[in-house]
Amino acid sequence: MTDTNTTAHGKWSSRFAYILAATGSAVGLGNIWKFPYITGENGGGAFVLVYLGCVLLIGIPIMIAETMLGRRSQRNPVETMELLTKEANADSNWHYLGWMGVIAGLLILSYYSVIAGWASAYILKAFTGSFIDADASAIKTIFDQFIASPIQLIFWHTLFMMATMLIVVRGVNNGLEKAVQYLMPALFVLMFLLVAYAMTTGSYFQGLHFLFTPDWSKLTSNAVLTAMGHAFFTLSLGMGSIMVYGSYLSKDISISKTVFIIAGADTIVALLAGIAIFPIVFANNLHPNSGPGLIFETLPIAFGAMTGGWLMGILFFILLAVAALTSSISLIEPTVAWLVENRRFTREKACLWSGGITWLLGLGTVFSFNIWSDFKLFDRSIFQILDYLTANLMLPIGGFCIAIFAGWIMKTQHSEEELAMPTPAYYQAWKILISYIAPAAVFFVFLHVIGVL
Ligand code: PFF
Repeated sequence: MTDTNTTAHGKWSSRFAYILAATGSAVGLGNIWKFPYITGENGGGAFVLVYLGCVLLIGIPIMIAETMLGRRSQRNPVETMELLTKEANADSNWHYLGWMGVIAGLLILSYYSVIAGWASAYILKAFTGSFIDADASAIKTIFDQFIASPIQLIFWHTLFMMATMLIVVRGVNNGLEKAVQYLMPALFVLMFLLVAYAMTTGSYFQGLHFLFTPDWSKLTSNAVLTAMGHAFFTLSLGMGSIMVYGSYLSKDISISKTVFIIAGADTIVALLAGIAIFPIVFANNLHPNSGPGLIFETLPIAFGAMTGGWLMGILFFILLAVAALTSSISLIEPTVAWLVENRRFTREKACLWSGGITWLLGLGTVFSFNIWSDFKLFDRSIFQILDYLTANLMLPIGGFCIAIFAGWIMKTQHSEEELAMPTPAYYQAWKILISYIAPAAVFFVFLHVIGVL
């Protein structure tokens, strides 16, 4: 396959631009909002270790594979699968994988945008001084009252979807690249400052102990599934986001090196978030398992109590909202790229349609926190169902298929050529991980959850 490209497909301006954008996709609510609360719900240390193991043995090899597939075809995920299937003379059903990615992206974005709306609303709350000198129970009341109001949640969800669409409509080079340039360094600095505050709470070591000392008796098979699903979610894998970003990547860039940088940065942000949050949880007698509200019920306490906390609170929630924005654009990009390249939509029309549908779906999540909070299916609210369906099922299944495709269907010569690893040993190691270890791990976790193992 050559580099010539007759479609409306863009290109990153440099390797650095790609790293920024892919890190922007990976680092988001998953790291700062979701990782701490699912760690809290699943008992801490053992869960964290399983998650780290999944990132290393499943996430990184699949991230290399997904980037490689995108870059080889230089097309959107649906077309990528069609094209590469032809190249490998394989069964044409593989293109459904691209489809599943498009659907998973829209489903995830529908709830992602609602939570990102919370982060945006908290910028205003921080600005108006709502957290100053407020204690844990006052902070909790602020959160509870906020999520009880469908109107407020819809307002912020709408605003966030509009911001996402505004960036996506401008395309890769203008929109996506610029958005991430200053965000990542700033986010790192702020996370370190929060960790510094956590050290002053008196419960710092209790927090570290919770995060890093495994108590294996707390690890259920569902916790293992959640940890594995989160490895996919946090690295944006299994649904074509990283594939579509890889497709904008020029051929002279080393995929494996960039993947290590991206996955490393992503993991560090998540761990920093955990290290900052759990000491605050324990110092204020809060419960680690308080669910999706965890960061909104803990970090404002810190901002309310520390010197300079007013400004830090504002900055933190701005950064969180922007980090969410750089992920949300990657959630919708596969759909938009497909509509533009295959359905001959203009970029504007593609954004309007995909954004509109996602916005509508998001209302389900909004209402699951208030007027429909009693509505449960399999004991789960709409938000929990969407989260379980996408992060725990669709992404691992998508990732499993990507692993099988890259390891077994694609010709070795092609993957070797595309990856151009520094030594044959590196390639061999990746090939073993992608062909055997990663798919087997996903498979066994699924068997375990359904009770076969
Ligand atoms: N990785 C993002 C996060 O951790 O917030 C979420 C995400 C983006 C998931 C893109 C999946 C995806 F395709």
